[in-house]
Amino acid sequence: MPLLDLRRQAAAERITLPAELGLGEADRQAAIATWKGRMVNEHISARIFAGLVPQLMRAEIDADHQAAVATMISDELRHARLCAAAALALGGDPVAPLPPLEPVPEHDDASPLEAVLRNVISVSCLSETVAVALIDAERLQAGPPVLAELLRSILADEVQHARFGWRLLEELEPRLDRRLRARLGEYLVVALAHLRAHELRHIPARAAPSSAAEAVGVCDGNAARELLFQTIGEVIIPGLCAHGLPARAAWERSLKIAA
Ligand SMILES: [Fe+2]
Ligand SMILES: [Fe+2]
Repeated sequence: MPLLDLRRQAAAERITLPAELGLGEADRQAAIATWKGRMVNEHISARIFAGLVPQLMRAEIDADHQAAVATMISDELRHARLCAAAALALGGDPVAPLPPLEPVPEHDDASPLEAVLRNVISVSCLSETVAVALIDAERLQAGPPVLAELLRSILADEVQHARFGWRLLEELEPRLDRRLRARLGEYLVVALAHLRAHELRHIPARAAPSSAAEAVGVCDGNAARELLFQTIGEVIIPGLCAHGLPARAAWERSLKIAA
């Protein structure tokens, strides 16, 4: 399995935490594991935006959008360095195995426009919108100001990543005929099931082990799970419906399938 080794990049960020964090050893190890997990997730999400660029080209999406997505590739790589720096500051070693890298789906059964819309909806309107809600909550829980600032800086980018999808959907809305909306509705059943399964795999079904651990990034899984469903129900589904996509029916159907 390939390794992601960000020791040098983490050291270059020069993040230091207060000497006394009130953390027991188990909490400290949990915090290091959390930041290393984030480091890997951020790093590999760069490949998703890299995969989107040729799809945007094929669908003749404006070159400004292609450039915006290219910036998102380096944003995600930067987020990985920042998470590595947090792991290092907690006494961890920012080295971790990279999981198998699934390619961005090509959607060969769809037109270039539909294919890119499926991926942009899945990445920006679903995943990045959830990321915004979760990171914002974590930022508010952060104790040391340096960690709060680190999360604020990541959050600012994730907001842009989410907005990209919502804006593109709005821009392309006049080109979405009834048939395409219905087909995207079918896709949403699978995409929403995948989102739910993916997020629940990453959010532990437990409360934060302690407030000291929560202050350095170990999330309260119960609260995060609640926030996930709230974001889907109050932001994502109404947002997609507002663009004429049958998202509510898709969500109901997604609950009946395992992703
Ligand atoms: Fe990110
Ligand atoms: Fe992102």
